[in-house]
Amino acid sequence: MTEIYDIAVIGAGPGGYHAAVRASQYGAKVALIEKRNLGGTCLNWGCIPTKALFASAELIQTIREHGEEFGISCELNINFAKAVERKNKVVKELVEGIAGLEKAWKNDVYNGHGKIIGGNANDGFDITINGEETQNIKAKRIIIATGSSPALIPAFNIDHDRILTSDDILHPDFKNVPERLLIIGAGVIGCEFANIFTTFGSKVTMLEYLSTPIATEEPMVIKELQKKLVEMGINIKVSQNVLSVENTGSGVKATTCSADVPRDQVDSAEKSYFEADYCLVSIGRARESKDLGLEELSIETNRGAITIDQKTCETAVKGIYAIGDVSLSGAPMLAHIASYMGDVSVVNALVSIGGFPVKERTTDYKVVPATIFTSPNIGSVGLRRKQAKDLGVDIAMGRFAYMSLGKAKCAGHEEGFIMILVDKKDHKIVGASCIGAEAPELIAEIALAMNHGLTVHDISETIHSHPTISEMVLEGAEDVFGFAIHKKGRPVHH
Ligand code: FAD
Ligand code: NAI
Repeated sequence: MTEIYDIAVIGAGPGGYHAAVRASQYGAKVALIEKRNLGGTCLNWGCIPTKALFASAELIQTIREHGEEFGISCELNINFAKAVERKNKVVKELVEGIAGLEKAWKNDVYNGHGKIIGGNANDGFDITINGEETQNIKAKRIIIATGSSPALIPAFNIDHDRILTSDDILHPDFKNVPERLLIIGAGVIGCEFANIFTTFGSKVTMLEYLSTPIATEEPMVIKELQKKLVEMGINIKVSQNVLSVENTGSGVKATTCSADVPRDQVDSAEKSYFEADYCLVSIGRARESKDLGLEELSIETNRGAITIDQKTCETAVKGIYAIGDVSLSGAPMLAHIASYMGDVSVVNALVSIGGFPVKERTTDYKVVPATIFTSPNIGSVGLRRKQAKDLGVDIAMGRFAYMSLGKAKCAGHEEGFIMILVDKKDHKIVGASCIGAEAPELIAEIALAMNHGLTVHDISETIHSHPTISEMVLEGAEDVFGFAIHKKGRPVHH
């Protein structure tokens, strides 16, 4: 007998496992299909393992940079293998936690590759699951949450031996610190790994095509990060067109030319060569949309990303939704975006079935907080200054440095600053960027304020506990009109 579910979710990353739980909370009968591990990229090969390793790196850095002055003298014995074992344990426990959650909500979890083989929103869709055995299920609605995987570029010869993806370097058995590590792509993944491996003792070189690392961040923030990465000993080579990477047997060798050289003149251009023991390729992600039955259903993809109605998350086929990294959402590829889209798609799917206690929802990506886990951390939300200018928003800016904050000084976190952008017209907050201690947590307060259309005065008039790092937000907000108490020399505007 074929099971009939209200909703079948294909893929159990932060988009899919979250959507499955949410659907059950509203009373739906749910199937969750996963071909690898529950938790998806985020828990197994992304957010969680990197942040577990980052926590070890941060502890090492704190002791190195501040131990003596804080009165701790000790010889550091750094054991990367131990840090990896801890990371593996964190991942295992969280993945088990997801299994426990799905069980608690009585969701049926199927192990195998899910593929839609037919049907429609009136009669239900048919899905086949290829795992140890082949199973067929039927569902009234489908949410595709199959995520992404590291982009593989043929010229980079990724062999998973010395030329690695982020999945390889996070493998539970990757326990040696490369003496020399070459990282291609100084985006979010590249910078996070550079920070981790430098701290554990690798000599890191980054090759980046653009003229700056993490180009999406505010230039002042990038400058501050770059300064720190260089201080840590990382060699950042920008404007590099990486032409090839080879495994030489005992190491790796990358060939580059200047990114300014036109494509048709690359062959005759002057080349540079970079050698190392291992190479990490982190130049973006490929969407996992193959072999899902999309072509047969005429669901369009654009370079692998599933085309959806960006407001409702529904594909061109009524009753089939796509969320998270695999979808062409218009938002960044982030775990919290996948989960948010999970919420939106679930309620819209249940409204279309009828009889569930939900109302239609649409997405809104004006307020998307994002974090980069380097030392110091970076957090941002809303517009950057250039974006505001391009949109014709006349902004006022508040800026406050950690070194002027009591709690930051006590904790030895004096690097970095927060900047808050406000629309001069109505004093509403339109964006913020922060580099420094607890930057991601500080940005959460601003995201809440922005989401509810608060003005910068609403923040200034909110009592912030003292001494806390959260006072960075208060002082940054007050500084917009020159009212920060602990900042000198700025004229007050009324
Ligand atoms: P995924 O997490 O990719 O999950 C998709 C799941 O679907 C996978 O488990 C896959 O096995 C499964 N699947 C695929 N096809 C099928 C099929 N046909 N049948 C059954 N199952 C299938 N984001 C953040 O917000 N914060 C971070 O700190 C962060 N750090 C990151 C660090 C790294 C190194 C990487 C690579 C990513 C990081 N990300 C981070 C991004 C984040 O991991 C992704 O945005 C997020 O995992 C996307 O969630 P998803 O549910 O769309 O897809
Ligand atoms: P990315 O898009 O952030 O960075 C890729 C970098 O590689 C860019 O700077 C790009 O210019 C560069 N690049 C591309 N091709 C190149 C080439 N041929 N030679 C040299 N440089 C080249 O992608 P990344 O770092 O792979 O991360 C993928 C996604 O994962 C991110 O977009 C992000 O959404 C997510 N992520 C989020 C994290 C977080 O929230 N903390 C952490 C890690 C990943």
